[in-house]
Amino acid sequence: MTDQRISLALIGCGGIAQSHWRGIQSDAPNVHVTAVVDTDAERAQAMAQQTGARAFTSLREALAEGAFDAVDIMLPHDQHEAAAVACFEAEKHVVLEKPMAMTLDACQCMQGLLALSSGHYHLFKQGLESTARRVPLLGRNLRS
Ligand SMILES: NC(=O)c1ccc[n+]([C@@H]2O[C@H](COP(=O)([O-])OP(=O)(O)OC[C@H]3O[C@@H](n4cnc5c(N)ncnc54)[C@H](O)[C@@H]3O)[C@@H](O)[C@H]2O)c1
Repeated sequence: MTDQRISLALIGCGGIAQSHWRGIQSDAPNVHVTAVVDTDAERAQAMAQQTGARAFTSLREALAEGAFDAVDIMLPHDQHEAAAVACFEAEKHVVLEKPMAMTLDACQCMQGLLALSSGHYHLFKQGLESTARRVPLLGRNLRS
């Protein structure tokens, strides 16, 4: 039988990557992590041991040699745009941690490329919703 799972590369193996990996394990049986990337070789190796995936120390190398359909980008904010554009150009599906990018122009550039999911997972938390009600501009941006 063919493997129907989505193969995923974790790009950035820092703090939030641990949460994503826990979520994948508990709630995403159709996701198969096949590559992990971090410029810190020890972090990449540690994540490779946890996930059973192949470790890379650069996104460029992973895109050239790795086998995956989608990427989960968990790099520092200022690297989101370049990493997402490189992944779109390699025809990968992209999940991107928040904040999407450093400027509105960069966000619009990325949205113009392909479908993208940006991880604002806390939008509907009670505290944030009540803040949004008190600050109209924030509320409008959250809902748009
Ligand atoms: N959704 C949320 O609730 C939430 C929570 C925390 C962080 N985040 C976001 O996730 C992103 C990462 O946050 P974090 O806390 O995991 O940061 P972190 O610093 O713990 O991890 C970032 C990792 O990226 C690696 N890295 C840096 N440049 C790289 C490159 N060019 N190629 C490959 N690896 C590289 C670093 O070595 C590090 O291991 C940030 O944008 C942050 O805002 C989201």
